[in-house]
Formats: sequence, structure tokens, C-alpha cells
Amino acid sequence: MAVRIIIGAQWGDEGKGKIVDRLSSDAAYVVRYQGGANAGHTLKFDDTTIVLHLIPSGMFNGDSKCIIGNGVVIDPIALVNEIKKVEALGVDLQNRLFISSSAHLILPYHKVLDNVKEKKRGSDAIGTTGRGIGPAYVSKVSRIGIRMNDLANTEKLEESIKKNLADINLALKNVYNEPELDADVMMSELLPAIEVVKPYIRNTTEILHQALDNGESILLEGAQGSLLDVDHGTYPYVTSSSPTAGGACTGSGIPPMAITHSMGITKAYCTRVGNGPFPTELNDETGEKLRKNGQEFGATTGRPRRCGWLDLVALKYAIRLNGMNELSLTKLDVLDDFDTINVCTHYELDGKLTTVFPLNTDKVSEVKPVYKTFDGWKQSTRNITSFDELPGKTRNYIRFIEEYTGVPFKVVSTGPKRSETIIR
Ligand code: IMP
Repeated sequence: MAVRIIIGAQWGDEGKGKIVDRLSSDAAYVVRYQGGANAGHTLKFDDTTIVLHLIPSGMFNGDSKCIIGNGVVIDPIALVNEIKKVEALGVDLQNRLFISSSAHLILPYHKVLDNVKEKKRGSDAIGTTGRGIGPAYVSKVSRIGIRMNDLANTEKLEESIKKNLADINLALKNVYNEPELDADVMMSELLPAIEVVKPYIRNTTEILHQALDNGESILLEGAQGSLLDVDHGTYPYVTSSSPTAGGACTGSGIPPMAITHSMGITKAYCTRVGNGPFPTELNDETGEKLRKNGQEFGATTGRPRRCGWLDLVALKYAIRLNGMNELSLTKLDVLDDFDTINVCTHYELDGKLTTVFPLNTDKVSEVKPVYKTFDGWKQSTRNITSFDELPGKTRNYIRFIEEYTGVPFKVVSTGPKRSETIIR
């Protein structure tokens, strides 16, 4: 029995969806535990490409049951669109998809607040995805959130939403100078979506506790990445949830001692979307080439991603935060065509070398990366499925990362398709 957390070891977009899809054939349950439709997990198999934002990436490889856990914030309108998209591929979601009755809803007013707050921040904007994530978690911790549980009583639900909206309209009018929202229009958009979502609601904590009792395997699918964690990331340029390992427990109801594996997913280089410090960022032709070769454009917003070399100081920090005892390396093939490849082994900060990731975000902006340079392998690794078939220079690159971090790569991804994978 394995209870494995799959966690982004960088700033998100590491290719977690592909790894979860690949490993889900052995899992009884695949569970999303935090975030919401800010995530965009791209899956490619046979001739199909699908981007999932809320539904766990375990729907298509085997018959695992998929849970949207209590820690996720769910936009019912986005979820219904996604349910339709998955059903159109011939997948029957009844008895495969379960939504925690404790999960909070993202309501249209959260999305409006997300966007007006970003507008007001001006040049200090965080660069959010605009999906209402921050304001929905604010409602949750302010104890005015609406939970899946609350959908059972439509009258009470309408009353609570209207009460919240009255406060929000005051802020929209007086603080943000924006038009107020009409409660009736909002309810008429929401109620049909809510009816579609209702049959999927369950006590998923109990389902998972029974799965643990029965010794069944569980995959916990993180969204975003460790460096976007609200506590451990580059605050305030972070998301509003806990993608790190602790978030997997609070966001699912699975206790820490039940976790058997913590797997970090890292690209062979680094990317970041939105604002905030990024020590190895390349604002030059090399960065442009990484973006082009890696098709680095946001799966949710389409924004071009910022690109740079692999940062081992940041990776080691993520490994220690999450107790990662295995790693997956993704998008290795994107480096096939580079003459030389850099990896950052140290930061220079205040005239000294360090391998400690600073907790002060201003200091993260100040660090200068110190690189070790590798010769490029200059041949295609695309579609290689055995480690021994990789070019010698590629294997050296991978072994160096393993030695630096002390953690082995269990999976190496050599292309976007499910089949383009080395499992070690
Ligand atoms: P939010 O999660 O929409 O509030 O955005 C906060 C920050 O997290 C922004 O910099 C976003 O670009 C970033 N972010 C949120 N979700 C993802 C993701 O799935 N991948 C990469 N970055 C993300």
C-alpha cells in the first residue's frame, strides 16, 4: 500500500498532471487537496490532450476514484464545464468523482474581488490567475464561506450568499469604485451549476479513512508548487493555499503517519508565472529558447511563463520542506538542443556564498545565482523509456542533481505523452 503525495518542487507547472496520470493506474484513489481552478494539469495520451483544473488527474488511466478534497476551493461553474469536457471523452463520472462536503465554494463575487484587488495593487500586483482563489480562502478563514454541505438547503444558501454579497457590494462601490453585483443574476447563473454538482458530494474524509483501513493505495495530487506556498513561498507573491506536504493532510483528512512517499516534481529547468523573485530567471535569448522549446505558456491563463536554469538551492529547500524521498524530472527533452546547460548550486548574498533559500522575499530578489556548467548532449532524448538509453552526458546531468539533493529520480519524463516516460 502506498500513500504518495505528488508535490510541485518549484513555482508550479512542473508537469504534475502527467506524473499523476502515469502513476494513477496503481492507485485506488487520486485526491486533489488544495488550490482550485488556478491549476492547469495537462494530460496527453493516445490522440487526446486535456487540461484539468479541478478534477484530479487520475480519471483516464485505470479506474481509480477521484476526490476533490476539503482543502480545495471549487468554482461550481468551472467544475460543471470540466465535468462536461471529461464526459465528452466517454468517461462516466458517476461513482468515480467525489467532492468533499467540507470543500468551500468559489462564488462569482470572489472572482470579481480577485480582479479588482489586483487592479488596485497596480505595479505591486501579484499576477494572480484571476480565478478567485485568494478571496475564497479569505472567506473560508473569516468563517463566512459557503461549503458543499450548505448546498442541501437552497433557501438558506441563497440567504447566506445574499448576506455576503451585501458586504461585498459596499466594498465594490466605496473602496474599489466598481459596479455592484446583482444577487438575482448571480443566483440564476449559480443554481443550475449547483444542481449538477450536488450528486457528487460525499464525506470524503470517511471514504479515505476506509481506504486506509483497507490498505488501498492513494495518490495525493498537489497543485501549484512549494515556492508558491502561502507560508513557505516567496510571500506575498504566492498562492493562498498550502501546496506543501502538510497541506496534503489538512486538505484531505489523511493523517501524516499514513503518508508513505513524498514525491517532488521538478522540471529540468525552472519557470514561474506571475510576479515575484526568480533567482535563475533568464531575460535573454536562452530564456526565450527555453520558453519556445518547452512551450512555456500558462495552461490556465495562456500567459508566457518566465524561464530560467534549474535552481538546486530552491529544489533542496523544497525537498526539506516536504520530506521528499523521491523525485520526478520532467521536460528533460527541452534541453536536448543546448550547447551548454547551467544549474545553480549556490547563491551569492551579501558578499557570501550560501545554499540556504532566504525566507525574506527581498533577499531572494537580491541573490546572485552561482552556476555549474554542463556540456549539452545535443541529441534527442524524446520518447526514450529506459534510463540506460539516455546519452552519457544526460545521465551525468541527472546524477549530479541526485548527488546534490540526495534524492533519487524515480520518474524521468522525456516528452508530454504518457508513454514518453522512464520509470526507475
Ligand atoms: P492565484 O493562485 O490565482 O491567487 O495566484 C497567485 C500566484 O500563484 C500567481 O503568481 C499565479 O501566477 C501563481 N499560480 C497560481 N496557480 C498556478 C499554477 O497552477 N501554476 C503556476 N503558477 C500558479
